[in-house]
Amino acid sequence: TGRKFFVGGNWKMNGDKKSLGELIKTMNAAKLNADTDVVCGAPTIYLDFVRSKLDAKIGVAAQNCYKVAKGAFTGETSPAMILDCGVKWVILGHSERRHVFGESDELIGQKVAHALECGLGVIACIGEKLDEREAGITEKVVYAQTKVIADNVKDWSKVVLAYEPVWAIGTGKTASPQQAQDVHDKLRQWMKANVSEAVASSVRIIYGGSVTGGTCKELASQKDVDGFLVGGAALKPEIVDIINAKA
Ligand code: G3H
Repeated sequence: TGRKFFVGGNWKMNGDKKSLGELIKTMNAAKLNADTDVVCGAPTIYLDFVRSKLDAKIGVAAQNCYKVAKGAFTGETSPAMILDCGVKWVILGHSERRHVFGESDELIGQKVAHALECGLGVIACIGEKLDEREAGITEKVVYAQTKVIADNVKDWSKVVLAYEPVWAIGTGKTASPQQAQDVHDKLRQWMKANVSEAVASSVRIIYGGSVTGGTCKELASQKDVDGFLVGGAALKPEIVDIINAKA
């Protein structure tokens, strides 16, 4: 496909310096497929710590950022601060940001625009809830979420699109390879119709939702699955097998 495989680990609000330090040691020592981009999403307060310990060949991502550079926004973190810690990526629009913290499509779009303007790479997340899938509106939901992201992107080489069906996140219910492939294929068609043919064929679309060492290989073999965004399994040595899923 010409698209470089991409595996993001999203540690969410987990770990401490001791446990993350051990995980980092494991990852630094592991033999990782050189044809895969690897990025670890660390808690904000540990970004500096993680960047200083993790091997330079492994990227680091923040799990969120704010939509402006600085100011009276208590508790928020700007892309400039993230970059100042040597961190080059941010995860935006994660389902937990949308559904636990009530982030709107509009806010996510503004964050995407500002993060990209500042020079961060963006892992932009989309995905339908169970009731939406059951109502047969998966495509409608993910197209609408993708449109708000696309409206805020100029340079697609800095964006990775993460399809994460909400019903598969943290539930142990991985989407089947066919379910993932179906949505990834439709997203690529949407990109072709609404962005460009070149972007549709070059943008990486990764899958997230209960990916494990056991499920990763078959998912990775799907034509339009260009990698993963991994939660729970990214906190375990198993992440090495997931990074190496594409043999
Ligand atoms: O960002 C990662 C996703 O939310 C997946 O989490 O692998 O624990 O299901 P999970």
